[in-house]
Amino acid sequence: MSLLTGEAMCGGYGGADILHDCTIQVDKGQVAVIVGPNGAGKSTAMKALLGMVPLRTGSVRLADNDIGKLSPQERVSAGIGFVPQTDNVFTSLTVEENLEIGAYLRRENFSTVAAEIYELFPVLKQKRHQFAGELSGGQRQQVAIGRALMTRPQVLLLDEPTAGVSPVVMDEFFDRVVDIAETGIAVLMVEQNARQALEIADLGYVLVQGRNRYTDAGEALLANPEVRSSFLGG
Ligand SMILES: Nc1ncnc2c1ncn2[C@@H]1O[C@H](COP(=O)(O)OP(=O)(O)O)[C@@H](O)[C@H]1O
Ligand SMILES: [Mg+2]
Repeated sequence: MSLLTGEAMCGGYGGADILHDCTIQVDKGQVAVIVGPNGAGKSTAMKALLGMVPLRTGSVRLADNDIGKLSPQERVSAGIGFVPQTDNVFTSLTVEENLEIGAYLRRENFSTVAAEIYELFPVLKQKRHQFAGELSGGQRQQVAIGRALMTRPQVLLLDEPTAGVSPVVMDEFFDRVVDIAETGIAVLMVEQNARQALEIADLGYVLVQGRNRYTDAGEALLANPEVRSSFLGG
């Protein structure tokens, strides 16, 4: 049984369904990656797991609990951290203030958790008194993820965390994602950089028009000729 499971999810934004029987799972310590063409429903699937998109049928479970009726806020309290695709940092606050906002749910001492995040992303420590709006794209993504980690989530959902990031920074970033998973967190990531993301994926999902087209280990998807020619540029 996986830690987070969205099973047979059908639903959308009120009109026709966007998701059709879509199943996404990620387990503790795993990196799972969702890839697929633009408009395939990747972000919608992630939002459905968080409760931002209503499901008509299907279920969402966290460990043994059905969380399908919980609000997004309640799901965050239950242990799901979410980093949206855009506008995911407060640009007019400093790096440290961004992390403090992430810590609002926690009773634990701010500096203990912040120290762990600064260890994971050392550049944030160096720039902790700078405004997030002054940082590079890659550094802002680190702030956004750091903020989500401040709640010590069991599951971390990342929607296109490498959008607009240079290739070198991207490789380095994926190494950190593996580090995060190795602490026992379940990481589920939507990625446009499909090849690189699948290289670190224990489990990969190819979504097309809201449906699961392929589900397999990242390596297996990378080796699958059909997946390669249709979704990975050959
Ligand atoms: N807020 C919204 N309201 C209505 N339709 C939306 C909304 N967001 C996305 N959609 C539609 O849902 C489909 C899937 O979008 P999305 O999940 O964002 O795709 P992806 O993340 O794979 O690029 C698209 O057809 C898109 O137009
Ligand atoms: Mg998207």
